[in-house]
Amino acid sequence: MATALITGASSGLGYEFAKLFARDHHNLVLVARSGDKLAQVAAELRAQNVTVKTIALDLTATPTPKFLFDQLQSESVAVDILINNAGFGAFGEFAQMSNDEIFGQIQLNIIALTELTRLFLPLMLARRSGRIMNVASTAGFQPGPLMAVYYATKAYVISFSEALANEVRNSGVTVTCFCPGATHTGFAKRAGNDKSRVFKQLGAMNVERVALDGYRAVMEGRGLAISGVHNWLVAQSTRFAPRKMVTAISRWISEPIQ
Ligand SMILES: NC(=O)c1ccc[n+]([C@@H]2O[C@H](COP(=O)([O-])OP(=O)(O)OC[C@H]3O[C@@H](n4cnc5c(N)ncnc54)[C@H](OP(=O)(O)O)[C@@H]3O)[C@@H](O)[C@H]2O)c1
Repeated sequence: MATALITGASSGLGYEFAKLFARDHHNLVLVARSGDKLAQVAAELRAQNVTVKTIALDLTATPTPKFLFDQLQSESVAVDILINNAGFGAFGEFAQMSNDEIFGQIQLNIIALTELTRLFLPLMLARRSGRIMNVASTAGFQPGPLMAVYYATKAYVISFSEALANEVRNSGVTVTCFCPGATHTGFAKRAGNDKSRVFKQLGAMNVERVALDGYRAVMEGRGLAISGVHNWLVAQSTRFAPRKMVTAISRWISEPIQ
C-alpha cells in the first residue's frame, strides 16, 4: 500500500484529502499542530483498515520539516505521495500587519512547502515513482491588496510547482499544483476575511467537492488544476485584463461587507 503524507490534515481540505486517500487504501502520515484533532481523524480513518500515523508539529518552527523527514526515515516510512496542503492567510494592510503574520505566512506557505519538497523529491526520483501536490490558490494568479503577502506566497507556489513539474517530466514522479478558490473551511475565519465580498456575497465552494478535484488532479498527475469552472474562468481572465484593473477587482472582492 502506498503512503501519503498530508500537511494540514486536522481540518478543512487536508482532512478531506485524508479521507479520500484512506478510502482508496493509502496509508497515511498526517501532520498539523493540533495533536488532539489529528488523533480524532486517525481514529476515524483507521476504521478503513489503513495505517495512520499522526505527527503534531508547527511547520513554521525551523527545522521542523527536517525533523519530520528524519523521523520518517528512522522508522523506514517511505512517502509515495506528498500533499503540501498546510497554509494560512492573514487579512489587512501590510503596513499594519504583525511580523508573526507576515513571516508566518512566508514560513508555512513557502518555506515549509519548499523544504518538504526538497527533502522528499530526491527519494521519489531515485525510486522513479512518486507524486507531489502543492496546494496554491486562485489567489496566486493576481496581486491581492489587503492580503498582499498571502497572494504573493501562492504566486510562488504556482510558479515553483509548474517549474518543478517540467524538471521532473519523464522521471516517474509528478508535481501537481492545485488551486482552489474560496472554499468553506476554517481558512477565512483564521485569515480574518470571512466578512469579505468573496466569502459573503460571491460564495465559496463546498470543501468535499474541492478536495475531490484536488485528489483527482494529483492521482492523474496533472500539472496545474483549478477547482471550479468559475474559478478557472477568472484565472484565465487575469492573463488578458490590464494589471491595474485586475488588482483593483482583487481588492474589491477582499473588502469586507455588512
Ligand atoms: N479555504 C479557502 O478558501 C482556500 C482557498 C484557496 C486555497 N486554500 C489553501 O488550502 C490549504 C488548506 O487550507 P484550508 O482551507 O483547509 O484551511 P484550514 O481549514 O484553516 O486548514 C489549515 C490546516 O493547516 C494546518 N496548519 C495551520 N498552520 C499550521 C502550522 N503552522 N503547522 C502545521 N500545520 C498547520 C491546520 O491545522 P492546525 O491548526 O491543527 O495546525 C489545518 O489542518 C491552504 O494552503 C490554503 O491556503 C484555501
